[in-house]
Amino acid sequence: MAETGRLQRFTSELISHGPLYALANHRIHSPKPLVPLENWKYWTDPKPQWLEGIMRAYPPRWKRKAYLDAMLEQDHASGIEAHYDVSNEFYALFLDKKYRFYTAADFWNKQETLEEAQVHKAGFIRGLLRLSGDEKVLDLGCGWGSMLRYLRETGHSGELIGLTLSQEQLTFDQQQRGLSVSLSDFITEPFEGAPYDRIYSIGSLEHVRPAELANLYQKTYDALAPGGLAVHQFFSYRSDPCPISVAVLELFFPGSMLSMHRIHIEAAEAAGFRITHDSIHDYKPTLRAWYDRLVANQDKALALVGLEVYNRYMTFLPFAWLFFKQNEADLHRVVIEKTAC
Ligand SMILES: C[S@@+](CC[C@H](N)C(=O)[O-])C[C@H]1O[C@@H](n2cnc3c(N)ncnc32)[C@H](O)[C@@H]1O
Repeated sequence: MAETGRLQRFTSELISHGPLYALANHRIHSPKPLVPLENWKYWTDPKPQWLEGIMRAYPPRWKRKAYLDAMLEQDHASGIEAHYDVSNEFYALFLDKKYRFYTAADFWNKQETLEEAQVHKAGFIRGLLRLSGDEKVLDLGCGWGSMLRYLRETGHSGELIGLTLSQEQLTFDQQQRGLSVSLSDFITEPFEGAPYDRIYSIGSLEHVRPAELANLYQKTYDALAPGGLAVHQFFSYRSDPCPISVAVLELFFPGSMLSMHRIHIEAAEAAGFRITHDSIHDYKPTLRAWYDRLVANQDKALALVGLEVYNRYMTFLPFAWLFFKQNEADLHRVVIEKTAC
């Protein structure tokens, strides 16, 4: 009976959302844990051209756009809760042990650990922030306080403040890490405590919808002290504002909508910023490292979050890998500066 329902849903989603979405959701609702190697290869191995062609052609653009518009009526905050308030312990099973970054790391070679790679990333971002030690810093979307903790441990003595929309993260950041973090929506709420010398985000601007970017960059500009700067790590669509993967992202980040890179740059410049750095980095090794850790912790993960959530992350990680492999989006690190007067 359950299998009949699953097949019925697959058929109706095939028509309404196209093959990629229907397949992903079908696998998420698998009655058993997805088999690690088969599942990774299922998403990442090249497919025959005819199949790839069908997968990329349907749903057609007009239908994708209509679907997307309907999806964007959802509340952004409830989508964040859906993704991040799964369970702190669950994320701890596959993220790096020390900082618990949920964003792309910098692997310098294939031998190094996720922990080392996350420290390299943190060092890179710290370098972009050009800190001398006493600046007042705001982290938009601070997650489990990873970068704030790194900055504190590497000697930053100025005020460090973080914002998150996840209640689970807030509790962890305040109680376990003793950080100054508030539950505040950085898109809709003012930045309390301005001016700041530095504002940064790592992996949070992906949640900001294209129509909200201009306002966010302007708010960031206004909240920075003269001569201040902002650093953002985020991934953005390369050229197509509505690629085929757009519908599938709804399964993992309900209510979020990626922007094209040029929309970010235009919004930053319109706010008055000068773009002084824009580099591209590779997300794929981090996704693979998270996948391997999740698989290694399958039993604990199933006990913590159950089969459907486990299978959702088992689908999300190779799907995201494929998304970058197919160059739909790039991971950027951008520095934007406000003039001194
Ligand atoms: C992918 S996580 C990255 C967390 C952290 N920066 C890191 O590097 O691990 C995205 C974070 O953005 C936060 N976030 C998303 N939208 C937000 C919003 N509108 N206001 C505040 N936080 C938001 C989420 O709660 C989450 O902490």
